[in-house]
Amino acid sequence: MTNDSQPRTQWLGRWGFVLAATGSAVGLGNVWKFPYMTGEYGGGAFVLVYLACILAIGVPVMMTEIALGRRGRGSPIDAIRRVTAESKGASAWSLLGWMAMLCGFMILCFYVVVAGWSFSYLWKMLTGGLAGSSVDDMAAIFGANNANPFNLGFWSTLVTVATMVIVGKGVQAGIEKSVSWMMPGMVVMLVIMIVYGAFSGGFGEAVQFLFAFNAGSLSSEGMLAAMGHAFFTLSLASGAILTYGSYLPRHASIGRTTLSVAVADTLVALMAGLAIFPVIFANGMEPGSGPGLIFMSLPLAFQAMPMGTLFGVLFFVMLSMAALTSSISMVEATVSWLTDNKGISRRTASWGIGIVLWVISTLAMLSFNVGADWTLAGKHFFDWLDYLTSRWMMPLGGLGVALLAGFVLNSESVREELGLSPAVHALWLFMVRYVSPLGIVVIFLDALGIATLEFGVQWPWLLLALAVITLIGELASPRLMRTLSA
Ligand code: PFF
Repeated sequence: MTNDSQPRTQWLGRWGFVLAATGSAVGLGNVWKFPYMTGEYGGGAFVLVYLACILAIGVPVMMTEIALGRRGRGSPIDAIRRVTAESKGASAWSLLGWMAMLCGFMILCFYVVVAGWSFSYLWKMLTGGLAGSSVDDMAAIFGANNANPFNLGFWSTLVTVATMVIVGKGVQAGIEKSVSWMMPGMVVMLVIMIVYGAFSGGFGEAVQFLFAFNAGSLSSEGMLAAMGHAFFTLSLASGAILTYGSYLPRHASIGRTTLSVAVADTLVALMAGLAIFPVIFANGMEPGSGPGLIFMSLPLAFQAMPMGTLFGVLFFVMLSMAALTSSISMVEATVSWLTDNKGISRRTASWGIGIVLWVISTLAMLSFNVGADWTLAGKHFFDWLDYLTSRWMMPLGGLGVALLAGFVLNSESVREELGLSPAVHALWLFMVRYVSPLGIVVIFLDALGIATLEFGVQWPWLLLALAVITLIGELASPRLMRTLSA
């Protein structure tokens, strides 16, 4: 089935989808969130679990989302509804689409605040506001930047407006055009930073911190955080990739496309780590100092570099752009749903969403100043948005998508849509049926304190459980047998 009654926009160029999806994936998650989370959760073990989650959960789920989008040719809600109906599955599966759209919007509400930080640091760089600052000054500058709601509100409003302008312009002229030069620029900037880090001391310590595996250093909370971050960084279960997939031409290869996006995204995150931690260690800063980490550390490096101001400006331009190419993807799902179902224009939809976004993101922004005391269970509104989406909604959504594709959808349609070779298809099916769901469930159970996961000790049991579940699943599901022998 394809929903051909409704002609849908497609990416213009051969690289349109890859660029837009990479633009969505690569963002503040890689450069801001990954380093500070790695710092908070103790380094190597966190990185390892994160990488394992990208491979075992993120990649298969991303392929599935693109396939769902392309086959269903619509927003997450519509696409999932159509594809499920085609396989005579229960209509309740479209709730996954609703959750994804809500999740994308909730992320956006705090994302524009962080993107606002990036824009404000760009401004500080341009106007010399960071010159001559010491390690302690950097912390004070970050604090002062947050303390004034008008300042912070100004920058997040700017991001909101910029996002809506691009989305309002449409898929090709707005999104596709803007990503084609920003991604390469970001990579070049990171390489420059890494080279600087390699010569300025602290590099060995940074490599050690990022890649030395110390099993004892990762808590259950850290495992859940690593899994949630794998979803966040690949823009999964929040409508973005699925909706972008709905604009993907029929002939494009989903497997290859997914791999390029995932590899690019992972490389940028690791590069960001390698750029940032040398500065942290060389200056005796605290790796676990939280969300301000890159804003407090990188400007120090720029200060000490020849032509540092120029590099600093370029860096924050790239970071701000990377943030925008992600924020637009979070809006696209909702815009697409509104235009397809409510008969309103793309422009009206964008500005309507923009107004709601502005109100809620302002509340999130206030967590850093006047609303510093407005907490629930020790978390601000900003933290709650991040916590609920990354730790719970995205993994749950990913679990749903994997189970839907693995057990509910008609395997022939899925096979046709994914277009993988038989061996890769069998691997994908094994992943979405068993490995990804089990991985998600085990990490959830661990985080809820129902089961404890210890490196080294329980892995053999997990593998055994996987084997048993696979066996039961396969025996109970003749469909897979047919698929594999077809
Ligand atoms: N992947 C983006 C990043 O790493 O910054 C964040 C993101 C974009 C999450 C789009 C969710 C989404 F739908």
